[in-house]
Amino acid sequence: MQEKINEIEQQIDEAVQDVQSSKSLQEIKLKFLGRTGKISELMKNMRDVPPEQRPSMGKLLNALRQWTEEKFNAIEKRLKDIELKKRYSDEKIDVTLPGRAAADGAYHPNTLVVNELVSIFSGMGFEVFEGPEIENDYYNFTALNTPADHPARDMQDTFYLAPELLLRTQTSAGQIRVMENKKPPIKILSPGKVYRSDDDATHSPMFSQMEGLVVDKGITLCDLKGMLDEFAKKIFGEGVKTRLRPSYFPFTEPSVEVDVSCFECGGKGCRLCKGTGWIEVLGAGMVNRRVLEGCGIDPDIYTGFAFGMGVERIAMLKYGINNMKLLFEGDTRFLKQFKG
Ligand code: PHE
Repeated sequence: MQEKINEIEQQIDEAVQDVQSSKSLQEIKLKFLGRTGKISELMKNMRDVPPEQRPSMGKLLNALRQWTEEKFNAIEKRLKDIELKKRYSDEKIDVTLPGRAAADGAYHPNTLVVNELVSIFSGMGFEVFEGPEIENDYYNFTALNTPADHPARDMQDTFYLAPELLLRTQTSAGQIRVMENKKPPIKILSPGKVYRSDDDATHSPMFSQMEGLVVDKGITLCDLKGMLDEFAKKIFGEGVKTRLRPSYFPFTEPSVEVDVSCFECGGKGCRLCKGTGWIEVLGAGMVNRRVLEGCGIDPDIYTGFAFGMGVERIAMLKYGINNMKLLFEGDTRFLKQFKG
């Protein structure tokens, strides 16, 4: 028996000699200690041993089993330590490495202006209304006191989609939609894209407007002027004044063109204001009674003013952009400069 035991011990020593991983150690372990392993087989053979020899044999076998278990445990611990260290170094994360920065974009100057205008006017109590870009002839023209044969239709070269359907040429179309659905007091701001068949250095077939409409009892041109003064100071700077010049729009009466005093030269005259000291920024006027009537609002009780401005124009003035095309080309070298 002792011989057998020595033999097994030797086999174990050989088997574990160059074991490299805890996994292969596990396999070796099974060969000796598993249910059908060599040591277990020996244990089973105890049945055939004469009873008087059993105690001493049992001792020997138990000692063998203990020796084997301890040996495997020691090797297993050593291998697991090595494996763990390897995992630590393989899966190491350098938490001090700088993160991958997200490329931050910039708002388009138009968006900056629209956001600023919305913020200025909502501070004065205006609500935002967005009308559709595809409009009926009725909302874009007829209801705005511009019937089919009206010469003012030629002022705006229209893209027609069908005889009655067009790409809106002005956000003023939204005025009608608002007044049809809401009764005074009305105070809305309506930003959006508009389309005109016009394309040269200073015109784009698509551009953006910002419309405003106020209707209530007792609204006068003075209210418009006061509101414009406030708007001009907020968007172009304190000290900027406004002036009204007579103009014509079918849907306002009287109609005005609104200038602001040149914020570049303070009104002395420079290149920006072409020496006049004034810069034109928007069109406006008192809502024409016929327009109010058409929307079911009694013009003897209610009056209102409307204004409309070109967003690109405001952006160009505000940011000193000398070429309108820059606002449409999407060149990131230009747009990057507007990072907040
Ligand atoms: N809709 C006019 C335009 O596009 C601007 C405007 C709006 C004028 C509101 C008066 C009142 O030219």
